[in-house]
Amino acid sequence: MTRLRDRRILVTGAASGIGRATVQRLAAEGARVVATDVSPVELDDPGVETAVLDVADEESVVAGVSAAVARLGGLDVLVNAAGILEAAHTHETSLELWNRVLAVNLTGTFLVTREALPALIESGRGVVVNFSSTSASFAHPYMAAYAASKGGIAALTHSLALEYSKRGVRVVSVAPGSVKSGITDNADSWIPEGVDFSLFGKLLPILPTDLTTPVGNPVGRPEAVAGVVAMLASDDGEFITGTEIRVDGGTHA
Ligand SMILES: NC(=O)c1ccc[n+]([C@@H]2O[C@H](COP(=O)([O-])OP(=O)(O)OC[C@H]3O[C@@H](n4cnc5c(N)ncnc54)[C@H](O)[C@@H]3O)[C@@H](O)[C@H]2O)c1
Repeated sequence: MTRLRDRRILVTGAASGIGRATVQRLAAEGARVVATDVSPVELDDPGVETAVLDVADEESVVAGVSAAVARLGGLDVLVNAAGILEAAHTHETSLELWNRVLAVNLTGTFLVTREALPALIESGRGVVVNFSSTSASFAHPYMAAYAASKGGIAALTHSLALEYSKRGVRVVSVAPGSVKSGITDNADSWIPEGVDFSLFGKLLPILPTDLTTPVGNPVGRPEAVAGVVAMLASDDGEFITGTEIRVDGGTHA
């Protein structure tokens, strides 16, 4: 498939999980991609260049977006996939944890988008794909900071879509849920002591999947989200802006 031929794309959070699968899908559809992450990105697919970019560090974002736009000779699509999940009982949540999660997920999405917008407007067919989450709407106890950051991303998406609708830029969120990645594989390390597991009941997908987390919970393939991002980035998404697309195996059907 070559529907993204000639598209110049910047992806954050590309070293792992959904971001990594997204880079591979976009490149397979013909895009030229700068794949960035706070950790080194190990990908050598044709059309993919890599760089280190910390979305929570304004200087890194300013320099990294500018370098990516220069390498690509412009920018048509931004995919804000970088994200972290930390959890705690809310009455024990430190301000540091709250600020860290908001800084990466919400402020990071804002910073990268702000820096990319001039080039996306210049493109005339700009697209921003943000990563919200089902946590913005349901099913995620002990994750107040994460859920708030993802709800903020959904709200940011609506506002940006309207503001730039007449300047050729579409802005859309994907809201994944229960997808195999660094976040879901490492759930043991971030689920706090003493949680009530019955409260996680709405997290499980209803569609069949062969994949599980290390503790045996069913999860979807990151490639399933990557395919939706590729659609949104392409002309197949030409009439879609200011909305969320949930990709969660029907957790809340
Ligand atoms: N996996 C799921 O079920 C699920 C559900 C809802 C939303 N999401 C969202 O999907 C996106 C991708 O996450 P994933 O599930 O693939 O997890 P992941 O941990 O596999 O990937 C997240 C990537 O973001 C990078 N990152 C973290 N902090 C960063 C920073 N400051 N600057 C740049 N990169 C940074 C990490 O190094 C990692 O490579 C995230 O925004 C996540 O919140 C995932």
